[in-house]
This record gives sequence, C-alpha cells and structure tokens, in this order.
Amino acid sequence: MSKKRVLSGVQPTGNLHLGNYLGAIKTWVDGQGQYDNFFCVVDLHAITVPHNPATLAQDTSAIAALYLACGVDLNCSTIFIQSHVPAHSELAWLLNCITPLNWLERMIQFKEKAIKQGEDVGVGLLDYPVLMAADILLYEADQVPVGEDQKQHLELTRDIANRFNHLYGKGESVLKCPNPMIRKEGARVMSLADGTRKMSKSDPSELSRLNLLDPPDTIAQKIKKCKTDPIKGLEFDNRDRPECHNLLTLYSLLSGKPKETVALECQDMGWGQFKPLMTETAIEALKPIQTKYAEIMGDPGYLETVLRDGREKATEVANTTLVKVKTALGYSLPT
Ligand code: TYM
Repeated sequence: MSKKRVLSGVQPTGNLHLGNYLGAIKTWVDGQGQYDNFFCVVDLHAITVPHNPATLAQDTSAIAALYLACGVDLNCSTIFIQSHVPAHSELAWLLNCITPLNWLERMIQFKEKAIKQGEDVGVGLLDYPVLMAADILLYEADQVPVGEDQKQHLELTRDIANRFNHLYGKGESVLKCPNPMIRKEGARVMSLADGTRKMSKSDPSELSRLNLLDPPDTIAQKIKKCKTDPIKGLEFDNRDRPECHNLLTLYSLLSGKPKETVALECQDMGWGQFKPLMTETAIEALKPIQTKYAEIMGDPGYLETVLRDGREKATEVANTTLVKVKTALGYSLPT
C-alpha cells in the first residue's frame, strides 16, 4: 500500500519562531518517515500583506534551508517553493469561482489582519485561504500538520473540496478531502510577553518570541525578560497562570521530557531557578538547528539542487490534479 501524503508550508515572512517550529515543523519531522511529504515555502502568501521585494527571494531560500536544518529528510520529503509551481495560482483562481464570498468573510485571521491593514487591505488577504486550499488539494494531501491557528483554514479547504466534488464530480471525488494534523501540546505557543496572546511573527516586540536563529545571548536575554508571575512553585494548566503554563510547555517540548516529569521537577521551583534551566534547554535544543543551517547556507549550490528537484516532483503531482480539475470544469486541454 502506498504511503499517505502530507503537505504543509510556512510563509517566508521574517525569522521562524518556536511557535512555527513546535506547532508545525517539528510535527512534520517527527512523523515524516510514515508519509510521502511535500513541504513548501509559501511565498505567494507572503505578499498578501506589505512585503519587501528586496528580501523576498533571500527570505524564501532561508526558510527552505531551515526546513532542512530542522531535520526534513529528502528521502521521504520534497521541499519546494510555492511560486515555482504555477499550478498553485491557477487552481486558486478556479477554486475562487466556486467559493462563496461569505465563507471567506468569516475567517478569523482575515478579520484580525484586515483590521491592521485598515483602508489598504488587499483582495489577496481575503482570498488567502483559497490559495491555501489550492496548495493542499493539488497534492491530494491526506494530512496537513499545522498549528491551532490554521484549523479554520483547514475546515474551509474541506468545505471547498466537498463543494467542488458536489458541483462537478458527477458522483466521484475529484478533489481529496484532507484532515488537519494538530498536535496536543505546542499547537498554540504563546507570547513570552503575554501568555494570553499567540507567539507571532507580526508582534512588534522581538522580546515576545524566541526565533530559531537567535544566538545564545539573545535567548538568555529574552528569557530573562519574559513575563512571569509572583507565585512560587510552577504548575501546568492553572488558568490564572498562562505564562507559567506556556513556559513549562516550552521547557517540556524542548527538553523532550514528558509533561508529568516536568510538573514534578518544577513544582517547588521559583522563577530564579527555572529561568536559567529554561535558557540552557532552549540554547541546547536550537544549537544543532543553527549549526546545520549555517552549513546549508554556506553551500548555495546544494540548496539550489534541492529546490530544483523539489519543483520537478511537485510540478508533476500538481499538474496531474490540475488537469483533473480543469477536465471536470469542462475546459479543453491543450494538445
Ligand atoms: P504561518 O507561516 O503563519 O505559520 C506556519 C506554521 O506555524 C504554525 N504556527 C504556530 N503554531 C503554534 N503556536 C504558534 N504561536 C504558531 N504560530 C504559527 C501555523 O499554524 C503554521 O502551521 N497559512 C499558513 C501557511 C500555509 C499552509 C498552506 C499551511 C499556506 N498554505 C498549506 C499548511 C498547508 C500560515 O500562514 O502559516
């Protein structure tokens, strides 16, 4: 039996933080051996908010290098850049035409980001989830590993696939309905500055997040300054202590120690004892990623080859689905 397919992606907007890593990339890497994986850098999504053309290409390659540095294995996974496979934009257009506008207007991320953009909000931001649906449906993905914040977009993808099949499938499934793969712990990593807000690339404060490429002294400084509370004895799952829960969860995930072990280890600790431990754990966990990243970035020829091979493999799969969709819609195909 052939392996089930996984597809996921990250936007090349700024540095990747622990939320991206623990919520998404670590899940990709931990499970990759069981699946046939496609991981893309979603650079078409990156221009739905104002972006810097001078750094887009470089930021995109850097994310691909980080995928490799985090342990994505090319024996079972394909890494590619979304804009290198034109089928993504083409399917997004076709799906636009069957997606009711009010489905998009309901999207929480659109509402949140649109408020920030004010009058300048672009159509691309509204349409973003349809492009994401195209990314997933082109690869006939069975599973889509993402953080909690992408759950609604996954539900929309399923709705779009079902609607397409209902309207044009003639009783067959042209598009495969994917399942979200959201881990129990780490699916929603919170800000270091406020345990009730998500860790996010767009937070103006650098102190709110730990980035995968932060050097040791920056990690130490951020953890030193992170928000805590005045209570001694650290615990999980106390609603009144969101920062405490978040930091213990990060410690557990980065050290690889189970939640129960961490709960026992930290139950009598104060922050003065915990913070140095957390700092050392974060530095040690990120060190191998940073070393591998430097190696990959030092050999641009290697990364180019990875991305060229990735584009070829991705294009083949994506074009097969695109032909099925266009045929179902009644298009004549070029001979
Ligand atoms: P993006 O680039 O915002 O985030 C990439 C991945 O990181 C997860 N994530 C988090 N997980 C836990 N805690 C956090 N604080 C946190 N912040 C981010 C996200 O859930 C995501 O899994 N729309 C997507 C990119 C995308 C995509 C796709 C994903 C485009 N096409 C197809 C999967 C499949 C996004 O903006 O992710």
